Amino acid sequence: MQLFPIDEKREIAIVDSEENGAIFAAIRFISIGQKAISRHKSFSVALSGGSTPKKLYEKLLLPQYANGLNWSQTKVFWSDERIVPLDDPESNYGMAMRYFSKEPLDESKKFPMYSNEKELVQAAANYEKLIKKQCFEERFDLMLLGIGDDGHTASLFPHTEALKIENALAAPNYVEQKKCWRLTLTYPCINNARNTIVLAYGAAKAHVLKKILLENDDPDTYPAQKIGRGKGTVLFIIDKAAAAELSL
Ligand code: 6PG
Repeated sequence: MQLFPIDEKREIAIVDSEENGAIFAAIRFISIGQKAISRHKSFSVALSGGSTPKKLYEKLLLPQYANGLNWSQTKVFWSDERIVPLDDPESNYGMAMRYFSKEPLDESKKFPMYSNEKELVQAAANYEKLIKKQCFEERFDLMLLGIGDDGHTASLFPHTEALKIENALAAPNYVEQKKCWRLTLTYPCINNARNTIVLAYGAAKAHVLKKILLENDDPDTYPAQKIGRGKGTVLFIIDKAAAAELSL
């Protein structure tokens, strides 16, 4: 694994496989959680959806990682959600619960972003209230994100309204590209996290990662360019195929 700083907030870890990426991410996840609990008696994390984090979630359940964290102090949120029932195959909550349904998470510390509310503006406002109540200093200790091959992150898709939000932590967002509504954390929330881990693997993400990591002039087209403009640190864990256009 090779580490490359991008700027004072962002660094890249290039791993030789998704397996090793998941192991590195699990070690970081547990270490961030331990530090948060020792500093302020809780660990708040926003999980990502999509397929990339699945290997990480599998690793986190292995005793050599799971035993390193006090899960009863761990509060789990989501960085975005599809507008579907929690048991729908499309649900990001449902995907994570296929790993964390029983052990080791505390039922009372899992906070799904969407549970069949009719009114999405109210659902987003409720989530913001929950974040402010549950997260120490209203900031996540860890934000877990993926990157779409169009440069989106969470459900902050190119040229969508939620990219403009500066005064809310969560929002509904109509995604024209998918002809559907999503709920998503916003830049003010994401960039206020103490630590962020971004996972991206595969050649299909190589071009957009070059735009995101080496350029910063067009966040409306490449929303993930704006990750890392806050107070926290951001670690991009990517494989060699995804790093192909970075010429590091
Ligand atoms: C979602 C995710 C989304 C995801 C990217 C990457 O709800 O789909 O939160 O932002 O992280 O689309 O998805 P993959 O991990 O499947 O490539």
